[in-house]
Amino acid sequence: MKNILITGGAGFIGSHVVRLFVNKYPDYRIYNLDKLTYAGNLENLKDIEDKPNYTFIKGDITDGDFILKLFKEHLFDGVIHLAAESHVDRSIENPMEFVMTNVVGTVNLLNASKALWKDNYDGKRFYHVSTDEVYGSLGKEGYFTEKTPYDPHSPYSASKAGSDHFVRAYHDTYGLPVVISNCSNNYGPNQFPEKLIPLFINNICNNKPLPVYGKGENVRDWLYVIDHANAIDVIFHNAPAGETYNVGGNNEWKNIDLIKLLIKVVDKKLGRKPGTSERLITFVKDRAGHDLRYAIDSSKLQKELGWKPSLRFEEGIEKTVDWYLNNREWLDNVTSGDYQKYYEKMYNNR
Ligand code: NAD
Ligand code: TYD
Repeated sequence: MKNILITGGAGFIGSHVVRLFVNKYPDYRIYNLDKLTYAGNLENLKDIEDKPNYTFIKGDITDGDFILKLFKEHLFDGVIHLAAESHVDRSIENPMEFVMTNVVGTVNLLNASKALWKDNYDGKRFYHVSTDEVYGSLGKEGYFTEKTPYDPHSPYSASKAGSDHFVRAYHDTYGLPVVISNCSNNYGPNQFPEKLIPLFINNICNNKPLPVYGKGENVRDWLYVIDHANAIDVIFHNAPAGETYNVGGNNEWKNIDLIKLLIKVVDKKLGRKPGTSERLITFVKDRAGHDLRYAIDSSKLQKELGWKPSLRFEEGIEKTVDWYLNNREWLDNVTSGDYQKYYEKMYNNR
């Protein structure tokens, strides 16, 4: 038996990682630690919540005493750390929340791992899940490799860069067996509809404006969330300590082209003439500090650990749109905030 802590497991990517680990590794005990912020939703894990190897713990990684107690109670062998404030626009509004969760929260988890494992790191692992946004912005050419210098521009990416530095420092200073991966933009089921793809699917369905930042010329490299979860599995089990891997779909899209594809797919599925909803496109003021282009070179991960993306983007987008259209209740629930009221009542009364 191994005790594995997954932080942020009620969020978008975390819920796919929790599901994968609970189903694939019945001999691991999976502990999902999540604060259930607006982005955390236990509905995402309904199908596995009764599995015997799964436990949910509501808690905040910024609370160092609580984290240390939790580690001593459950004697974790491994940590897969995904809990974070993750939305760039929110980080522009409220950077301190990002410093607290992304930097202080990560250091609390590092300290607790170090305290629990002392200097015996046999079979232990601290896996920090990070973003390609730490590398800053590319021009029209080139790719981020694991050697690209950090150059974050948003409070979100700066806080993730800070946490990455702490994770590496704990490896170099204390020998903590860490691994880091930096992934490109994810899409797929269960993503909170503040990020581009689910927000726009929801707005197309409801005939609401589609706010395109600037001219829609920014480029992102999109990866299906389950491919990311599979990469996390491969890296967690096989990466040598101290290593970093870039994860990406080799799938660059200019925002405006992606939006037009999305409109076509959603319109078709709603029985509208494909392209009708282009009238909803509204160009708005650009995001402050908006990075022009992200593109990942994931050849290290592909060559060393044999991972590769499984889905073509057109296929992934079809599956994603189908999921949101078939889960309108999930969408209505998270956009209305009803589920948060429910959690507040349920957990504050305990
Ligand atoms: P998300 O916002 O959907 O989920 C984050 C989860 O963390 C939520 O369940 C939230 O409740 C929880 N959380 C937030 N603050 C917490 C705290 N103080 N204590 C405990 N739990 C807390 O995020 P996501 O998109 O699933 O991203 C997960 C991780 O992957 C993040 O670390 C993010 O930086 C990284 N990442 C995301 C993407 C992407 O495209 N979404 C790409 C690369 C890397
Ligand atoms: P987002 O999903 O917020 O991811 P990130 O900023 O982490 O890459 O945004 C993806 C791209 O879409 C990014 O270039 C910003 C742009 N965007 C819009 O044009 N309009 C929107 O309403 C949102 C949320 C994003």
